[in-house]
Order: sequence, then C-alpha cells, then structure tokens
Amino acid sequence: MTTSPDTPAVPAPALVTAETLRDEIAAALTAARDRTATLTDCVESGDLIRQHSPLMSPLVWDLAHIANQEEMWLLRAVGGQDPIHPEIDPLYDAFEHPRSERPTLPLLAPGEARGYAADVRGRVLDLLERVSFSGRRLVTGGFAFGMIVQHEQQHDETMLITHQLRQGAPVLTAPPPAVAPADALSLPAEVLVPGGPFTMGTSTEPWALDNERTAHTVAVAPFYIDTTPVTNAAYQAFIADGGYDDPRFWTADGWDHRQQAGLTGPMTWRRDGGQWLHTAFGVTEPVPPAEPVLHVCWYEADAYARWAGRRLPTEAEWEKAARFDPVTGRSRRFPWGDEAPTPERANLGQAYLRPAPAGSYPDGAAPCGARQLMGDVWEWTSSDFWPYPGFEAWPYREYSEVFFGPEYKVLRGGSFAVSPSVARSTFRNWDYPIRRQIFAGFRTARPAAPEVS
Ligand SMILES: [Fe+2]
Repeated sequence: MTTSPDTPAVPAPALVTAETLRDEIAAALTAARDRTATLTDCVESGDLIRQHSPLMSPLVWDLAHIANQEEMWLLRAVGGQDPIHPEIDPLYDAFEHPRSERPTLPLLAPGEARGYAADVRGRVLDLLERVSFSGRRLVTGGFAFGMIVQHEQQHDETMLITHQLRQGAPVLTAPPPAVAPADALSLPAEVLVPGGPFTMGTSTEPWALDNERTAHTVAVAPFYIDTTPVTNAAYQAFIADGGYDDPRFWTADGWDHRQQAGLTGPMTWRRDGGQWLHTAFGVTEPVPPAEPVLHVCWYEADAYARWAGRRLPTEAEWEKAARFDPVTGRSRRFPWGDEAPTPERANLGQAYLRPAPAGSYPDGAAPCGARQLMGDVWEWTSSDFWPYPGFEAWPYREYSEVFFGPEYKVLRGGSFAVSPSVARSTFRNWDYPIRRQIFAGFRTARPAAPEVS
C-alpha cells in the first residue's frame, strides 16, 4: 500500500465561508441535541438512572458525558475557558470507569445533567459566534466542532442500543421506512467489483476522524459482493439447515463462543412454535423476512458466509464496492456520489428505527450496483482494526489508537441509527467479534477469477 492524495470530495475548507460553516455547525449541534432529548425525555428518571444492561451505561451517564466532552474540547481546548465543574471530569471519563461500574458512581441526577448540558451548549453557541476557523489545526474546517457533533450522535446511537436492551413497555415509536417497493426479486444476487487499485481512506474530508486518514492506494483483486445485506429469510435458512449445530461452519473461537453463550439465532429472536419472533424496542412481531438480519455477532456472520460457500468481504473490498467509480477512477464520498445523504438515498438518522427491506434505496446504489451500503445495518467485515499508512493519533490517542489490534473487527456503512453527520463511506467502526447488541448485519463476498487479457 502506498499513500496518495485523494480527490477532494467536499469543498476545501477555505472555499466555505466562515458564516456558512458557523450555520452548518449550529444546525448539526442542534440536530444532535434534539435526538439526545428524544432519547432521554421519553423515559422517567428511574429509567434514566437504571442500568438496563451491563454492556451499557445508564442513560443519564451518556447525557452528562456528552456535555462533559463538549465542555472539554470546545470550551476549554478551543475557547480557553476554565472548567465549569472540574470535580466531575473523572466520573465521565470513559477510560477511568468501565460501563459496568458507572451505575455505582455519584453521577449528576437527571435534572442536574440536563442543566449542565444546557449550560455548556449555551456557552458553545456563544463561542461559535466569534471563533476563528483558521490558524489552529483543532479548528480548521470546524474540526473540533465536527468531532463533538459526531461524538453526541454516536452516543445517540449508543443510547438507542440501550433502548433496544431495555425491558418494559415501548417508549419509542417510528413509522415503517417510507421506501418505494423494493425490486429485490429482480436484482442480481451479487455484483462484480473490478480488480485493480483504488483510493481508500481520506486526507481531505474535513470532519474525518484520525483512523480514516490518510488516503492511500490499495490494490484489490476482482470479487463479487452481495447486492444487498443478507436478509432474515436467508438467515433463517442457515438456521434451518443446522448452521448453529455444525462446527464446520465456525472458526474454533466462534464455535467455542457459540457453545458457551448458547447461541441459537440473532439476539432479539425467539422461536414460537413454527415461526421466529423478534422484539425491537419493546414490540414483538414475526421476523420480517425481507429485512436485513440484525443483531448478529461477527462469529455468526462468518459462519453464515462459510455455510453459503462464501466469505465476509475484507474492509478494503467493502470500501471499494461502496466508493470506487470505474468511470472516473476516483473514490466517492458516498455510494451514490459526493452529495449529502437524503431520505431517498439511505436509511439513516433513527427516522424509522428499523432497516428497510433488502433491495430498497435504488437511488443510493453504488457504481457496482450494490445497494444499502450506507445506512440500514452496520456490516461486519473480515478485517481486524489496524491503522492506515501515515496514521497519526489526532486529537487524542484514546479515540482510535488504543483499540488497534486483532481483538476488534471492523464494521462499515452505518445503520439506521447513525446520523448523516457521521455516515460516510470512509467511516470505520469496530467491536469485539462476540458483540450482538449493536445494529449490525453483514453481506458476503467471493473472489472472481482475474480477467484474462
Ligand atoms: Fe464518548
């Protein structure tokens, strides 16, 4: 792999006026806070304080942690202001206290957390009015503000996972995805992605995080990839064929985990007589056959792929399928082009609280013809989480660098729970191969014979 500059996918920061950038940042901060309020105002105080799963923080921790990070990076680091409540910093340091420990901490009460978040936000909007976006790397292109917008939106996804794991009556509702009828039945099952080099990662996306950088050239052999994510119907066939009972389909670690954890199907599924039911945000219904499978761990995705005679795509293959335009030879910001996501192109932003049927969003198709590479479900790849060539931890080691290694698998593409502020085809997510609470599914791939010239 060699490093190379990529084609600017968004206007260079210098071409965006400071006033436009201020307006965009203010709108993005407000959108994030509106979502945070929706996720935390819909439950009583007791539900905010309670830990709904040892895998998750109490919602009230997320709320004050969002504000604390915003204070530290924008008011203190950018604005040079003194801490508002320095004594609470350790409580909301994610590295000081694992999630399982957070309910035992003397956290701010719900009213105090809301007041703190509102106080910080008011001061941040004042700062935004007068900040200069030049001279310091931390503010170039509005980076620190973009990082905080993304941080809050990522916690909004985390809080939605908490809601998914919460027991009790439903408190969140959303309509079914408003998508045109899918022509999934007429779509090819797989599409060919040509071999050859492409540009992976970015050096120009202003709000890209450190692990997405730098842009570099990667050669990928030709391969086929599923046109859509794997559906619930296809996954049911894997189960019905004994996929969970045959160690040949599983890695050794995966089989050990499947046995120890007693896995028999996706996290939210249970068998009811002759059918599978699933529960989503407190509502139980028959598993929708056409929707992408959700809440499966990497081991399950990998076993399914082997059962199907295929494999998971590598991270580079996934990104090439999602971004590479063979006509221009350049990598796009999104599968459909460089323009921002719209409701017609991708299921993002917690608008529907479920993935759309496989084959939806023809307007969001990639040049190779694959659909739903942005939104709907995170997609497991076969790749471990490693830095790109030229990686530099920025602006702090704990964002990415401390996680690099073979313990984590990379996920791509974003889910229905991901904000458009975070969704882009270079964004990298990572998690342990046993994790199922995240909004993750997958698609499969297979090598293609090289073209003979
Ligand atoms: Fe955080």
